[in-house]
Amino acid sequence: MSNLSGAPAPLGRNLALRVSLMPKDTNVHGTIFGGILLAHLDIAGAIATRPHCDLVVTVKMTEVIFHEPVYVGDVVSFYTSVTKIGRTSITVHVAVEAQRYGDPGTFVKVTDADIVYVNVGEDRRPTPITRREAASV
Ligand SMILES: CC(C)(COP(=O)(O)OP(=O)(O)OC[C@H]1O[C@@H](n2cnc3c(N)ncnc32)[C@H](O)[C@@H]1OP(=O)(O)O)[C@@H](O)C(=O)NCCC(=O)NCCS
Repeated sequence: MSNLSGAPAPLGRNLALRVSLMPKDTNVHGTIFGGILLAHLDIAGAIATRPHCDLVVTVKMTEVIFHEPVYVGDVVSFYTSVTKIGRTSITVHVAVEAQRYGDPGTFVKVTDADIVYVNVGEDRRPTPITRREAASV
């Protein structure tokens, strides 16, 4: 199985988000700023909660590991898997892979993170997750 970029599609994970980052997203080293990746991690993980939750807030990001730098123009894919569903919380693992700019045959695992979201009601207070069965987004 392969995805549109030609990379092998990791089994049991969903491609939640794919972006190419710009010079405005860089740090003083000229590589992509970690805070930009954190924002995309948060968005990708939240998308992965959609089959189960209508509205979530992020309560915790753990084990965010930046394995390798991301460069301007890389195509960055955020793969998600729901690893735990609690009463009101849901945990998502996000694995990030960069397809190198100018070298489309090279795919590098750049980041991993575990993110805990809480399902909330309109009052922004925790509410039980009732859609516990897996569904695709
Ligand atoms: C998330 C929030 C609603 C939780 O409120 P709370 O009063 O702590 O809620 P509860 O104690 O009932 O816990 C709710 C769930 O969150 C989990 N939780 C709370 N704090 C946690 C933490 N630090 N780490 C992991 N899980 C946590 C609880 O284990 C519980 O999960 P469960 O129901 O599956 O067992 C509240 O802390 C909040 O609004 N935080 C700000 C969220 C935010 O603005 N995020 C950034 C922008 S999206």
